[in-house]
Amino acid sequence: MKITVIGSISTDIIVEASVAPMVGETVRGDKLSFSYGGKGANQAIAVSRLGVETEMIGSVGQDDFGSRLVRNLDENSINTKCIKIVERHSGTAIIQLIKGDNSIIYIPGANEELTIDDIENVRDDLESSSFVIIQNEVNEGVVKRTIDICDELNVPTLYNPAPARQISEKYIDKVSYLTPNETEFKVLFPNQSVEAVLYRYPLKLIVTLGEKGALFYDGAEIKLIAAYKVENVVDTTGAGDCFNGAFAVARMKGLEVEQAIKFANLAASISIQKLGAQAGSPTLNEIKEHIQYEKEWDFE
Ligand code: RIB
Repeated sequence: MKITVIGSISTDIIVEASVAPMVGETVRGDKLSFSYGGKGANQAIAVSRLGVETEMIGSVGQDDFGSRLVRNLDENSINTKCIKIVERHSGTAIIQLIKGDNSIIYIPGANEELTIDDIENVRDDLESSSFVIIQNEVNEGVVKRTIDICDELNVPTLYNPAPARQISEKYIDKVSYLTPNETEFKVLFPNQSVEAVLYRYPLKLIVTLGEKGALFYDGAEIKLIAAYKVENVVDTTGAGDCFNGAFAVARMKGLEVEQAIKFANLAASISIQKLGAQAGSPTLNEIKEHIQYEKEWDFE
């Protein structure tokens, strides 16, 4: 059983400060760090740490960053044979971290070089996957072609529409799971209430609400699956990615949607206790040893 992630692979440049600068203002920062990121890579790391065979499809630059980004995935036991190396700078995100909360400027660079043809070329890899995850830090055409091919091949897909971008309903109909946060929801479904749209997509649409948890409709009622409380939040960057990866793993292992959301909430709550989008992403053992691990999940 393998999960394939198609998406961005980036370097995160994290700037920590106690206050955010206003326009035209300069403030002194406290700390500068470089870490591994990119929504796609973060999701792949989340899957792999949970002990599932993982393949990553994406594109990095010929620069030093590119080789480090691929090495990091290799070191996390992720199959990188389909990662393309291009003559462009590798993807980068500038992350401003103020008291644990982040805002991000994303510069796609090489991530933008992944093409529809590249997706056609990995059709066999998609076919041999039990689950495919995709998000929006790659071109729209790549997202659409992935969804179409997986639909043709009957491979379940999780589409995490982050960062926000519109897409026609025909693609939403084809994916197995759609996981916007509140901002992304508003872009996908302008002027529609969360409740009304949840009713249209039972067991498919999961609206993530950060520290409040996640909403979904189980066919009988709308349920809020509360997030786990965390006292010592260090960095929420990548928590959504961890949620998506863990949810896909849990579904693939047979948990019902509600339990899979709970499991993903727990993984995300652990992930925010370390600095960096990937550093805190938990291993299966860490989750199993957690006081809130539910025996009925019975993970191997
Ligand atoms: O979701 C978090 C990620 O988004 C970061 O790692 C950064 O790369 C950004 O693009």
